[in-house]
Amino acid sequence: RSSAMAKDPVRVLVTGAAGQIGYALVPMIARGIMLGPDQPVILHMLDIPPAAEALNGVKMELVDAAFPLLKGVIATTDVVEACTGVNVAVMVGGFPRKEGMERKDVMSKNVSIYKSQASALEKHAAANCKVLVVANPANTNALILKEYAPSIPEKNITCLTRLDHNRALGQISEKLNVQVSDVKNVIIWGNHSSTQYPDVTHATVTTPAGEKSVPELVKDDEWLKSGFISTVQQRGAAIIKARKLSSALSAASSACDHIRDWVCGTPEGTWVSMGTVPAGLIYSFPVTCRNGEWTIVQGENFSIFPVVFPLMSSQGRS
Ligand code: NAD
Ligand code: LMR
Repeated sequence: RSSAMAKDPVRVLVTGAAGQIGYALVPMIARGIMLGPDQPVILHMLDIPPAAEALNGVKMELVDAAFPLLKGVIATTDVVEACTGVNVAVMVGGFPRKEGMERKDVMSKNVSIYKSQASALEKHAAANCKVLVVANPANTNALILKEYAPSIPEKNITCLTRLDHNRALGQISEKLNVQVSDVKNVIIWGNHSSTQYPDVTHATVTTPAGEKSVPELVKDDEWLKSGFISTVQQRGAAIIKARKLSSALSAASSACDHIRDWVCGTPEGTWVSMGTVPAGLIYSFPVTCRNGEWTIVQGENFSIFPVVFPLMSSQGRS
């Protein structure tokens, strides 16, 4: 423990920290789930004035939990104070959709938030700050952030499709009755929206007899082409229908997975899905990460269909 404490703390911003994802996410960060069990952190929590009291309550609970890695907590409604010096920014602040809405229906409310927060990040965040946009519509908000923070390197602005990736792993694990930790290399192509394309063509399961192909093990092409895809595409709506609130613990956990793999690297032979900016658009691709940089997986015989299909329909549902 003493050498672990020698590392300098990393400053992590969570916007919308008084909300339900924020409430699940900040203890994960403070416990080292996002940046590792030997990485001290300082949490910067931002919310809006109507949520200031609740935000202060979250800060009180963080103190009460006595997290050894937590070296400081800023709870504020001032965007400049929140963004100053942050190394990682997890942008959760905004409004969730309700039952019967598509994610694009919260666009008018949420997009404006990202214009102003982009400027604050650009001016006050640490150089090389890594940004993860969670709030919906996540791809669009990330694009706005990129446009209004031109000095943040494009490769540092990402959005969350890891939740969709993890949902796909979960569905395959349930279908094949195998451990989710033995399933890997699914791909989410496109937007975090109902037009996304979950792809298992290259996914594998680790078995005692070696790596086996998911399509070969599933042996149910019909399910892979319809039921599986629509379940993953519609999982957010199914959670809202069941909980009357949108996903929170799985969103928070997937946000930790996204940042951990980006900063600490993906395991050998494994890729993950990230919404990234390879050519002026924010789109989910399979990536591997090393030394804090993501690289889109090359050289695979990926079908062009899943790439083109969501692009063509991305102006539709969100
Ligand atoms: P929530 O309503 O519980 O919390 C959102 C918080 O953001 C609230 O505390 C609110 O006061 C705050 N907020 C609003 N405007 C703000 C601003 N300008 N600055 C800072 N904070 C602000 O919502 P939630 O369930 O935590 O969801 C948050 C967002 O994440 C929603 O847009 C939701 O749709 C999205 N989401 C995305 C994914 C994903 O996979 N990308 C998954 C789940 C939820
Ligand atoms: C999700 O996928 O759970 C989130 O994007 C919330 C939503 O609106 O579906």
